[in-house]
Amino acid sequence: MAEETDVELEARLTEQDYFRPPAKFVGQANASDPAIYDEVGEFPEGFERYAELLDWDERWDEVFDGSNPPFFEWFVDGKLNASYNCVDRHLDERKNQTALLWEGSEGEQENITYQDLYREVNEMAAALRAQGVEEDDVVTIHLPMVPALPITMLACARIGAPHSVVFAGFSAQALAERVDSADSDYVVTIDGYYRRGEFLEHIEKTDEALDQMDRDPQVLYWTRHDEPTGDVSDDYTNVEYLLEDHRRERVKPVSRDAEDPLFLMYTSGTTGKPKGCQHRTGGYLAYAAATSKYVLDIKPEDTYWCAADIGWITGHSYIVYGPLALGTTSVMYEDTPDYPHKGRIWEIAEKYDVDIFHTSPTAVRMFMKWGEQYPEEYDFDFRHMTTVGEPIQPEAWLWYYKHIGDEDAVIVDTWWQTETGGHLITNLPALEDMKPGSAGKAAPGIEPALVDDRGEELEPASGKAGNLIIKNPWPSMLQTVYGNDERFISTYWADFSDTDSDDWRDWNYKAGDGAVQAKDGYWRILGRLDDVMNVAGHRLGTMELESAVSEVEKVAEAAVAAREDAEKGEVPDVYVVLREGIEPSDAVKQEIVEAVEREIGKFARPSNVIFVDDLPKTRSGKIMRRLLENISNGEELGNTTTLRDPSVPERIREQVQSD
Ligand code: PRX
Repeated sequence: MAEETDVELEARLTEQDYFRPPAKFVGQANASDPAIYDEVGEFPEGFERYAELLDWDERWDEVFDGSNPPFFEWFVDGKLNASYNCVDRHLDERKNQTALLWEGSEGEQENITYQDLYREVNEMAAALRAQGVEEDDVVTIHLPMVPALPITMLACARIGAPHSVVFAGFSAQALAERVDSADSDYVVTIDGYYRRGEFLEHIEKTDEALDQMDRDPQVLYWTRHDEPTGDVSDDYTNVEYLLEDHRRERVKPVSRDAEDPLFLMYTSGTTGKPKGCQHRTGGYLAYAAATSKYVLDIKPEDTYWCAADIGWITGHSYIVYGPLALGTTSVMYEDTPDYPHKGRIWEIAEKYDVDIFHTSPTAVRMFMKWGEQYPEEYDFDFRHMTTVGEPIQPEAWLWYYKHIGDEDAVIVDTWWQTETGGHLITNLPALEDMKPGSAGKAAPGIEPALVDDRGEELEPASGKAGNLIIKNPWPSMLQTVYGNDERFISTYWADFSDTDSDDWRDWNYKAGDGAVQAKDGYWRILGRLDDVMNVAGHRLGTMELESAVSEVEKVAEAAVAAREDAEKGEVPDVYVVLREGIEPSDAVKQEIVEAVEREIGKFARPSNVIFVDDLPKTRSGKIMRRLLENISNGEELGNTTTLRDPSVPERIREQVQSD
């Protein structure tokens, strides 16, 4: 049969919206019986099936305690250790199986078996303890995609010290803020790593961060090569040397209460500083393992590759905790997908014969732009592919399906958040047909719903847009915002719950996303409804960006608008009013860009800096970012009647469009 063209495939899509999972997938899937929906949906006992995937030191007395909403508890009085579950328990059956396949920037390869992981995690746990880390101390980890990162996380989990991983791309200032906010007395970093083949002196960020933070943490550093590279302070402890003192030491995994925190993960919100989402040990690990099994279809004998960064929640749940709890082999890659060439990803997929591949819509759009000639050069055969982090346009979905999956792999589009710990809306791949652009149905046991702005629930499957809420609690939901229960309630619950009620059924989790549920029950996510942007799958608060820009003395006022971008999804446009007497110039633009890089990180760099005379404001002085978004996206201006000076947005529009 002649190969179908993209146009033909697209035409088929309009006639027939669904794609059936290939029979060869269905025949071997971990979730192949639709009864799983009813069984797990039996609230709350259904989630016991998930907890039973783990090894517990003591079984729980109660599955769910909803007596103090929204502080829900899961697997109450159960005890377990996450590091034991991800490492030790696999030794009997697969100690010589590879746990992590690390591919370095320079083509180096490390093959870390479960036995190796066991040894390295134990030694690091012993070393951390010897440096004074005690149970419940928060350890900040600022590491890139090197094996030291999962090893340090699992070592922390072993001794019951919650980790707070700060994505390596975050700046010194962002690191400092997170160390202070988490009351952390330990920072684990590395001398440097490779980005597009160049050695980055990563430890400089810690040097700078120490000057900017209130706390005075102890710094431990790994080395990218055998010996430290570059300029490293004598005040820091070299982990590699330290480990010499702990060779072959074994550390008994600390039996943690199911409700004890496993980690913090900072994420951007609408207002103020990033929030430390606190995740519990038992419910989180159970849910991450179960969704890895049933949604990602991971089996121990698979080679699985989630091409995300462990510094974000995707990497926590679906590189480290879920896949390792299931005893599979995971690929980790240090560098960018186009280094040293644009076929790098497919070259690695071929080399390791990857079965399951996990990436973001931004990456798919980028691969699409580069062209199918790159994947075509390599011989790889995925059974299962995942997308996560942003809505995927049907066009990109189809390209992924055809050119990467060879029309022979299932795709799951997984909707979830840092706060939710694991997938909440996504199909179980063998049980539902795929529908491009749609995240699919709710995961088993999850009850999404839509409400209007007054909190009235919309008819299910009405096809109307609303605010996405999740009704029943689930095991991997965040426990709280670290150190700030009030912010936890006001951010996630207050808007759509009866906060006076003691009945958990009156509490609804607010996701902050808009969504539509079609007649067939499939959910389509429309994007954030709050002032949070999604830049290449990275979550950024507009307020955070604005406060970074305002650090520049020449700036009087700034507002950030999300502009749609064919590749990155959204990019930040910054509208700036300069102080009296300051002339717009490229030098000032540069200062603004540098301020963002300094305060947040290079990945947050504004796409455009636009100097304006005034910003559109309501009579009460609130900046109307929506209007700026209309301008950035070349759309009609929305309602301007509530503005103090309705001519302002029109003037900005003329200015932007004449540029
Ligand atoms: O807007 C949604 C979008 O990403 C947000 C969560 O971002 P973060 O906490 O960084 O976690 C990203 C990885 C789970 C959501 O509020 N989002 C996530 N997944 C999807 C999505 N939007 C559409 N489709 C998805 N599959």
